[in-house]
Amino acid sequence: MTNSESTANAVLDRPADAVVEVETVTAGYLPGVNILNSCSLLARQGELIGIIGPNGAGKSTLLKAIFGLVKVREGAIRLYGEEITNLKANKLVAKGVGFVPQTNNVFPSLTIQENLEMGLYQKPKGLKERLEFVTDIFPELGKRLGQRAGSLSGGERQMVAMSRALMMGPHVLLLDEPSAGLSPVRQDEAFLRVKEINRAGVTTIMVEQNARRCLQICDRGYVLDQGRDAYTGAGRDLLNDPKVIGLYLGTLGQD
Ligand SMILES: Nc1ncnc2c1ncn2[C@@H]1O[C@H](COP(=O)(O)OP(=O)(O)OP(=O)(O)O)[C@@H](O)[C@H]1O
Ligand SMILES: [Mg+2]
Repeated sequence: MTNSESTANAVLDRPADAVVEVETVTAGYLPGVNILNSCSLLARQGELIGIIGPNGAGKSTLLKAIFGLVKVREGAIRLYGEEITNLKANKLVAKGVGFVPQTNNVFPSLTIQENLEMGLYQKPKGLKERLEFVTDIFPELGKRLGQRAGSLSGGERQMVAMSRALMMGPHVLLLDEPSAGLSPVRQDEAFLRVKEINRAGVTTIMVEQNARRCLQICDRGYVLDQGRDAYTGAGRDLLNDPKVIGLYLGTLGQD
């Protein structure tokens, strides 16, 4: 098949179970400066997708582009086949997309419960059921609903941030570094929670600094380099790929 044929057939080639498709997206913050350069990604129904890559590669920018927080200049983003390029975050939340940013992801002066209620602002009914669902996954939050989020540890804040995103019952969850700043034991715990959320049927796209752990638990991974998807494959295959090990995993990849 020639290139032009494959382009023309792109729509027909779309997997029937595609949930999020990022197609050759170019995006950036400042005029004339592209951070994402023809970057592509696919998340199928129920998949846990891991995104790894060096600092500044554009990992957070990719999640922000999906969530309408950075301008997409070229290319397209689709959700269940429907184009959502540059749609605003509130519209995306209504369509079932949840986003947990890398930093500043809780309201410190509000209690845990108030933070969670903020997550449900578009669907004020069903608070009790959603609270039950998230406190099942994060029981430690359920016991401390009246505590101010600002007084929580980094790991606990991360749980609040994830819970808030889960309050709307999203079909798709975008997670930016859920294990950042946590001790190794807490990191393992964070990954287990992510896995649990994913197993509950939420298609999950996770950016991670902890590349090796991320590739171990994700179904498929993307290695981002200078705003492009440099490598992609099954998590296990990327872990054992000499190019990926040499460039991005160092000796950590060899065990
Ligand atoms: N709001 C912004 N305005 C201008 N440039 C930005 C902004 N946010 C990020 N950038 C730039 O975009 C590039 C990619 O940043 P991004 O945060 O996407 O990287 P990352 O891969 O998530 O890195 P890290 O692993 O450090 O989190 C960086 O060069 C950064 O300086
Ligand atoms: Mg980042």
